[in-house]
Amino acid sequence: MAFPSGDPVLTTAPHRLYIETVGCQMNVLDSEMVVASLRRQGYELVESADQADTILFNTCSVRQHAEDKIYSALGQLRRHKQRHPEQVIGVLGCMAQKDQRLIFERAPHVDLVVGPGQLPQAAELIERARAGGGRQLAVSLGRRDGPVEQIRRSHETFDPLRDPASRPTPFQAYLRIQIGCDKFCTYCIVPMTRGPEQGRPPEDILAEARLLADQGCKEITLLGQTVNSYRYHDSGRTTRLADLLTALHDIEGIQRLKFVTNFPRDMTAELLQTVRDLPKCSRYLHVPLQSGSNRVLQRMKRGYTVEDYREMMARIREWLPEAAVSSDFIVGFCGETEDDFQQSVQMVRECRFKSSFVFKYSERPGTKAAESLPDDVPEDVKRRRNRELLALQDAISEEDNRRFLGRPVEVLVEGPSRSAEKRGEDGADGAVLQLTGRTHCDRIVVFPGTRSLIGEILPISICDCTAHTLIGQTTASQASHEVVGLSALQPTGKAHS
Ligand code: SAH
Ligand code: SF4
Ligand code: F3S
Repeated sequence: MAFPSGDPVLTTAPHRLYIETVGCQMNVLDSEMVVASLRRQGYELVESADQADTILFNTCSVRQHAEDKIYSALGQLRRHKQRHPEQVIGVLGCMAQKDQRLIFERAPHVDLVVGPGQLPQAAELIERARAGGGRQLAVSLGRRDGPVEQIRRSHETFDPLRDPASRPTPFQAYLRIQIGCDKFCTYCIVPMTRGPEQGRPPEDILAEARLLADQGCKEITLLGQTVNSYRYHDSGRTTRLADLLTALHDIEGIQRLKFVTNFPRDMTAELLQTVRDLPKCSRYLHVPLQSGSNRVLQRMKRGYTVEDYREMMARIREWLPEAAVSSDFIVGFCGETEDDFQQSVQMVRECRFKSSFVFKYSERPGTKAAESLPDDVPEDVKRRRNRELLALQDAISEEDNRRFLGRPVEVLVEGPSRSAEKRGEDGADGAVLQLTGRTHCDRIVVFPGTRSLIGEILPISICDCTAHTLIGQTTASQASHEVVGLSALQPTGKAHS
């Protein structure tokens, strides 16, 4: 067919996708894949739900609050959907796996529910729903729904589909090395939503890392719920995290390697020596302790004692004296007394974590704790313990950050800081804006600079700090503008990685 003049006119506009992602890094990575698969089909991303014809929520079930937020956002779309019945609304991720059909009951205007193990099918299910095929549900088998091999297979991933344009920055990427979790801590829903622990084959991981390097990625963060428990057996050979790091270290272009989240019991001397010997490995270890009380750890079924954790810290200090260690804590877990809580306080003092995430215990239906341990710590006590532990951690973090004053640190520049974004600074025409990045030991650094620095690894001299942020300046040779007197020197406000 010939067009009389100019370019061919598209008769159908591309689909417009809006996606909201909550939860952990696994979800961020999953959303990258879903967006990549839809972009390949011609979708474009839009900034708000009312501009979109496809609205997706990638959800988290780890605490009640995370679910409440999603149900409330879905509720707000009910009227909107009545006015725009052609819109497709989908719930993806852990809440989809946990609540399944209940989502259609609570939010009847939802068209599709897709668990984390079924995301490769999301694009097709969206099209089926749009074509009038009715509600679409795709979830993996539950942990008691059949032989373990079959359950494993029902948790598919589509990891190799990498698209730098679907990531916040093309210079950094997550890379999944492990799916699921078999630790079954009594409070935790993740083994139910993400299924059995499975290591991905090392050759797939390496191929994906090479692809990322070819796309210009400089920093890879390996992901697993218990990343240092990674194991892959094949033809009599076992590959562990240390072996993977060694192989990944040789990839040209990759300059930093991180891995999260670590399980205390599996922090072996061999792994620590490997990190020490490989300069690209970040001197940063996230190893959640969860509680400083052995009684509580036992009820959580964490499988280690406070003494074991202390020994692990001693091993870390021996092999990697300069490493930053961070933790997670749950306060107000079933039966936690004031004395138990004070033991957590004591461990924060003793271990001097770089940062800690502190969560109030939230009972999750389907977990061991929900079945057999009463959620008996009152909400106001949980809140007070949460505040107290965070305040102590903040004081320690700030004290530690002060050690950096006047010293240069090496920063991978990620992009505009959150405050710059809030203020609407876009750095157009080479204007200076507040940038943010991270040190090799995962400390957040903000400093004034131009957009051209994004993706660079630079020395930044630190002139001020808060508990969560180092505040600095580029050295004279890099600054393309006068940097003094800029009002941008405010912390980004967020504590953690
Ligand atoms: N796999 C990681 C973390 C998974 S969830 C690990 O084992 O460390 C992230 C954090 O959420 C956990 O470390 C824990 O501190 C917190 N968490 C998990 N379940 C929770 C619950 N029911 N209530 C409150 N916090 C919870
Ligand atoms: Fe949850 Fe424990 Fe597994 Fe972490 S190790 S995901 S806290 S069950
Ligand atoms: Fe949440 Fe699922 Fe991650 S429950 S913390 S999004 S694995």
